[in-house]
Amino acid sequence: MQIIHIAAECYPAAKVGGLGDVVGALAKYLNLAGHHGRVILPKYHTKYIINNEWQEIFANTALLGVGAFDYKIYTDTSNKLGYELYLVDIPGLLNREQVYGYEDDSTRFIAFQTAAIDWIIKAELAPDLINVHDHHAALIPFMIQNCHDFMALKECPVVLTIHNGQYQGTMEWSNNVMIPKWDSWKWGLLDWNGFINPLASGIRCAWKVTTVSNGYLQELRFQSNGLEKLFELEWHKCSGILNGIDTIVWNPEEDQALTKTFSAKNVSKEKLHNKKTLCDQFNLDINKPLFVFIGRLVGEKAADLLPQSFINAFHKIGRKMNFLILGSGQTEIENELNYLKFFSQNDYNTYIGYNEDLSHLMYAGADFILMPSRVEPCGLNQLYALRYGTIPVVNNTGGLHDTVVDISEPNGYGIKMSNASENEIILSIYRAIELYADNTRMEQIKKQIMKLDYSWTKSINNYISLYQSLGIKN
Ligand code: ADP
Ligand code: GLC
Repeated sequence: MQIIHIAAECYPAAKVGGLGDVVGALAKYLNLAGHHGRVILPKYHTKYIINNEWQEIFANTALLGVGAFDYKIYTDTSNKLGYELYLVDIPGLLNREQVYGYEDDSTRFIAFQTAAIDWIIKAELAPDLINVHDHHAALIPFMIQNCHDFMALKECPVVLTIHNGQYQGTMEWSNNVMIPKWDSWKWGLLDWNGFINPLASGIRCAWKVTTVSNGYLQELRFQSNGLEKLFELEWHKCSGILNGIDTIVWNPEEDQALTKTFSAKNVSKEKLHNKKTLCDQFNLDINKPLFVFIGRLVGEKAADLLPQSFINAFHKIGRKMNFLILGSGQTEIENELNYLKFFSQNDYNTYIGYNEDLSHLMYAGADFILMPSRVEPCGLNQLYALRYGTIPVVNNTGGLHDTVVDISEPNGYGIKMSNASENEIILSIYRAIELYADNTRMEQIKKQIMKLDYSWTKSINNYISLYQSLGIKN
């Protein structure tokens, strides 16, 4: 099967969060399973894209409203990614340092989608299927079925994968002129509540819609930021496929970012070296349990609850644990978390920013990973943590519900809170500290979780079956 993935993020070229990890891994593991997986991504000015060699393979002009834009397609020359990566270069629109967050994001991503489809047609790539991801690529199902210039792809099956239904790319109707020529009586396929809603349009027009866990799929029907009715209508074509992790990149036995690599066999002894490095670097006490938080500092992750929860935890439980935070996001949350450093007694620290290597070391060196997320479509952090012998402490939602079993259950290995609140966070920290005191159980759980299989090697088969259900052979 020849599958093209189109997305706004793809590891290692451009990653803001889990979307990047998943898109890169999907293409790579499709190839490993004997298929042909490719990715089309905007050519941003990220470090990876600047520091690597790219070869120009195509150039053209496409329409955007009353004007036109030039675009070029570049490809990776190193062959080291395990899949073919194609970058769409649109000077002035896509060649920026950040992936998102610009006022003209609607224009940027419409132009990106237009160029991607234009190139697929002009270069006669003839994929068996196109898999688009999240709202930045979700106009493509509409475009290939309705834009006059894209009729060559009209019969191509297209799957939309929703990584996060909170963000829908909603834009004013005045933007409709930027979409390449289509019959205006079809406006209902773009509209949701008086706006152009790319995610809603994708859900309507895609042949199949997937999301990244079954738990999240069930939630979307009742809580999807205004799309509940649409999910009810299109429910028959929706399914949940749990993400996997790339066990080649995330491998504690070979990970270059660790002070000491380890396996389930020697985790009891060797994992501690990584904790020591973290404790030395961040002034923490190695004798106390280490809780880490890694991720975007936003409300979805309940990061706003962290500062007060830490203060209350120290107050109510005592200074029996360390907290180490790696993340960036809303300025107020960053500031509050940073401010707490002044009160640290060798038990609290933060790294505000993005640091891939540090994240690996933290998954390896921590005892517990905190994920009180209000919304978590899948969550990769808990899966990486499990593989590195770190116990997840999570809110019981979405993919966290599906992948973590509470220690009170048979064969349980994590701690679950029943909602995202300060009280539940503190209670879970308390339960984790009690678990930490039971050395035998801790060691047994570390070994157990390192052997769990949440790999793409397993999950990729669910994507392959879905593609095959659309009549694609081979
Ligand atoms: P989301 O995609 O919602 O942010 P996920 O759990 O799916 O959440 O994936 C988050 C990914 O981003 C993980 O690979 C995590 O390690 C990484 N990550 C998030 N914040 C940072 C950061 N500040 N530094 C390094 N890696 C980060
Ligand atoms: C999104 C979700 C996250 C998921 C990731 C990859 O960013 O917030 O839960 O793991 O996509 O699918």
